[in-house]
Amino acid sequence: MNDLAPLLTPEGRALLDEVRDTDPAHELAVATRLRREHPAELVSAALGQARLRQRAVAKFGERDAARMFFTPNGVEQSTRASVAAYRAGRFRELGVTSVADLCCGIGGDAIALARAGIRVLAVDRDPLTAAAARANADALGLAELIEVREADVTEVDTAGYDAVFVDPARRGGRGRIFDPEAYSPPLSWAVEAARTAPRAAALKVAPGIPHEAVPGDAEAEWISDGGDVKEAVLWFGTGRESPVRATLLPGPHTLASRGLPDPAVRPPGRYLYEPDGAVIRSHLVAEAAVELDGGLIDATIAYITADEHRPTPYAAAYEITDRLPFNVKKLKALLRERDIGTLTVKKRGSAVEPEELRRKVLPKPAGPGSVTVFLTRVDGAPTMLLGHPVR
Ligand SMILES: C[S@@+](CC[C@H](N)C(=O)[O-])C[C@H]1O[C@@H](n2cnc3c(N)ncnc32)[C@H](O)[C@@H]1O
Repeated sequence: MNDLAPLLTPEGRALLDEVRDTDPAHELAVATRLRREHPAELVSAALGQARLRQRAVAKFGERDAARMFFTPNGVEQSTRASVAAYRAGRFRELGVTSVADLCCGIGGDAIALARAGIRVLAVDRDPLTAAAARANADALGLAELIEVREADVTEVDTAGYDAVFVDPARRGGRGRIFDPEAYSPPLSWAVEAARTAPRAAALKVAPGIPHEAVPGDAEAEWISDGGDVKEAVLWFGTGRESPVRATLLPGPHTLASRGLPDPAVRPPGRYLYEPDGAVIRSHLVAEAAVELDGGLIDATIAYITADEHRPTPYAAAYEITDRLPFNVKKLKALLRERDIGTLTVKKRGSAVEPEELRRKVLPKPAGPGSVTVFLTRVDGAPTMLLGHPVR
């Protein structure tokens, strides 16, 4: 389908309602029945849209996803609602009341901005994608705040908007693009656009962006949601009190850089902390270690250890019960002795394949016990640390 218009007619909308909860296993039968009364193309468009809406629930929630319109790329590339809402909140805090959303896709960010009370110019050059963004603004009652324009962002005048937001396309014909200059538009173009914004700007980039690629006048923020790192954002106009941040959702919990040196290496204490991915990607392990009064078990490994437990959103805490040199036979014997049936394998600084290890040490999981094993290095030595999550 390359046109949304038929789905926006009363017949199209009624059909969308009808196929809403279609089980993929019954799709063929449903399509055959509906084709007796509706054009075949409309029926397959409605079924395709229903499938996209089901996929979009994880990002937009059931209520919104059921009313929105998507393209396959649009679902894939859109910002999840939690992250978009957080970012929109930051724009508000910076006093922004209007944003040029350059590369709006199906409108994930534009919707969150509008819901934060911000007026949005949403631009995308792909006609179907722009049509979806427009339909979404309508469907969610935000059309008064969102103007959708089908255009190339490099040709759009953003004068008259407080801020610029750019979420470049980072996927090409061959999959994900890692070189920021190969983004569409390239990062260097987006940085220039950001610098012209009167109040603030934000550029969404891949979380794997090297720190060296962050412009000196930007603040880089890594964002995770539910423990998964979702993106990095380059902010301009924040005053840049700290050049790097890690933000964890839900929360938000934000850890800001303080320019601390690497934490000291010390022997493992009673607790081991596994920092959130956003903390690791943002290189703020030292900032997290200070909060925990902890040190590293190895200079090159991002596990923090401490003698006392301090609850923190920035790292998952484990109470360590055993420390052994890496040895598969010993681990197997220990699991048998303790009646372990559930084994969680975590690793940093070890080449061991967790699944392979699990097959070797727990060939027939049965016992009632559970344990987490960390395959890592302690001051250079391959080590197994066993423990349990601190609730
Ligand atoms: C990552 S998606 C944006 C997702 C969006 N922020 C959301 O949450 O739904 C990138 C979009 O940029 C658009 N795009 C890429 N280059 C463009 C250009 N030069 N001008 C306008 N749009 C462009 C693509 O069509 C694509 O829809």
